[in-house]
Amino acid sequence: MFDYDAVAKRYDQHRKGGGPFMSSLLALADAAGAEQVLELGTGTGNNACAFLDARPVRCFVGLDQSMGMLVRAAKKGLSAHWIRGNAVALPFVNRSFDFLFSVLMLHHIRDIMPVMQECYRVARTGGYTAFITASHDFIDRHPMNRYFPSFAAIDKERFQDVPQIEEALRNAGFGETGQIHAKRDPEPIDEHYLDKVAHRFISTFDLIPDHEFYAGLNRLRHDISVDGCAGTMQWESVTIWGRK
Ligand SMILES: C[S@@+](CC[C@H](N)C(=O)[O-])C[C@H]1O[C@@H](n2cnc3c(N)ncnc32)[C@H](O)[C@@H]1O
Repeated sequence: MFDYDAVAKRYDQHRKGGGPFMSSLLALADAAGAEQVLELGTGTGNNACAFLDARPVRCFVGLDQSMGMLVRAAKKGLSAHWIRGNAVALPFVNRSFDFLFSVLMLHHIRDIMPVMQECYRVARTGGYTAFITASHDFIDRHPMNRYFPSFAAIDKERFQDVPQIEEALRNAGFGETGQIHAKRDPEPIDEHYLDKVAHRFISTFDLIPDHEFYAGLNRLRHDISVDGCAGTMQWESVTIWGRK
């Protein structure tokens, strides 16, 4: 299991909330008439901030299994409850929430069916659940594959592909499901991006063997020093949703 307690400080310094998926989350929250909201795998609360800035709700609960991550979330002064718990066994009674969402958590869980069943159980009838992930197609096209040869293999081994997640939602009982694909504007792979990679801002970089990581980092640093940037990066996300 990836140790988020150990990386919480670094994570919070180099990851920000929001992303190409945020408009889909807000639209689904509106469709759900969301007032009671649960975020699974809330981490340091970055996406809780982005969500609540755009759409304040009566009750927001952020759940995570890492206390180190939650401690940082709690320092952000949001109107939210922070709960340590596991997404496979939620500490809530049936039909407690209008809207549940989760950003880049599912790939840490081998068997996602219990998560889907728990989401179905704690969602009210007519409520929505949404999972944000990266598609295998995007992982294959990610520009960091040029520098880190095992990048795609590591992530495709962890990330469930989109159809598998949608099927799991249906198998858990969600009657309507769908996918929303989104892209952010391209950003330069420049010194700022290099700094994030050097600080292993995504867990993939912690899983790449050290010799490969430092060789790739040096090549990336060199390319950026020559041209000022090493191409562009366009973040793509998929929101997979289910309505109970
Ligand atoms: C990549 S981080 C994403 C954090 C946050 N959603 C964000 O976008 O910044 C994944 C988070 O999922 C949490 N997590 C992983 N498995 C979990 C589980 N079974 N139950 C609850 N949280 C989990 C980790 O502790 C970590 O904080």
